Amino acid sequence: MNQQTMRDVDVSGKQVLIRVDFNVPIDPETGAITDDTRIRAVLPTLNHLLSRRARLILCSHLGRPKGKEQRLSLAPVAERLSQFLNLPVKMAEDCTGSKVEEAAQSLAEAQVLLLENLRFHPEEEKNDLAFAQALAKLADIFVNDAFGVCHRSHASTVGITKYLPSVAGLLLEKELDTLTRALDNPRRPFTALIGGKKVSDKMGIIRNILDKVDSLLIAGGMGSTFLKSLRYSMGQSMVEEEAIGLAQTLIDEAGQKGVHLLLPIDVVVADRFDPQAKSKTVSIASVPSGWYVMDIGPRTIEVFVPKLRKSKTVIWNGPVGVFEFLKFQKGSRTIATTLASLDATTIVGGGSTAEAVVEMGLVEKLTHISTGGGACLRLLEGKALPGVASLMAKD
Ligand code: 3PG
Ligand code: MG
Repeated sequence: MNQQTMRDVDVSGKQVLIRVDFNVPIDPETGAITDDTRIRAVLPTLNHLLSRRARLILCSHLGRPKGKEQRLSLAPVAERLSQFLNLPVKMAEDCTGSKVEEAAQSLAEAQVLLLENLRFHPEEEKNDLAFAQALAKLADIFVNDAFGVCHRSHASTVGITKYLPSVAGLLLEKELDTLTRALDNPRRPFTALIGGKKVSDKMGIIRNILDKVDSLLIAGGMGSTFLKSLRYSMGQSMVEEEAIGLAQTLIDEAGQKGVHLLLPIDVVVADRFDPQAKSKTVSIASVPSGWYVMDIGPRTIEVFVPKLRKSKTVIWNGPVGVFEFLKFQKGSRTIATTLASLDATTIVGGGSTAEAVVEMGLVEKLTHISTGGGACLRLLEGKALPGVASLMAKD
């Protein structure tokens, strides 16, 4: 990366403010953290700083609160983090103000303080500079290790960098390096598998990676729009009519660029959008009107899997079926286990795809699972991330 990292600055004994992405899923009934991947992902950064006796002040958002909402307190995260670090983690009442300043000032070397949810203050999302400055008052150095939030221009990602020397943490560095290396200098054959619901979200990615990949597999909600553009009827499935023309253009461009574009040839359909719905497998030419496309079918799997097996780099973003419903997970599960078995660089891009492989226990078997959803999409679209661009450049 072109930005300075934690290794380029002296952090010994310093007060270091670290922006992390502790936006973890919380069970609404019990308040328990249901996936702590994002907490574990920053441990290398925290341990690096602790080994240099820095005083750690961590800040994050959780959810999208409207003002102060107690259910979105970061207190449960402090507890989990404390178990991982095997150290006490003090929980601050707020993220700015005199009490918090005192707490930050009184930290001894290698002690850890977690600030309360940044988004309890609307100034955070407005990138309010007075708020950024109040945060900056707490520390000598700013480390951004919150890859998942780097696509947002907020006070704790962008504004703050005006007031403190600002560098990247180890997770941010790893995310950027892994994703950009795969995109710009992949081991070939290079295959991308793009699925997921929201078509318009992913069109930018497809356009960007058409110049880079050897093969492109498209499925999920995306797939339906592409198939519709080839005049197949997709029953009741959500097809973004405005995106059909673009899908057609991208199919043509793939042809011109010599990219092998694969779409589903059969699909699992259901008579209603429901986990208990009646379902059957049909060819893409015979999706019954009134039915919903829910997953890829076995013949498609037979085409997709060998393509993946031959690849040396695979980027996967977006489930190929309705992963929320057990009955329609088969396609995505097969893709995930195939990737896990490859001797290749395998990268899973954020959000629901990452959740699926974490839930399947495949984390160790893949090269990299991005902790970012939206941030990862932006990178795959070839766009800059404001939270990264604002860090100090390497000389
Ligand atoms: C995420 O979960 O994608 C990041 O933490 C960013 O959260 P946001 O989409 O609410 O800004
Ligand atoms: Mg998000």
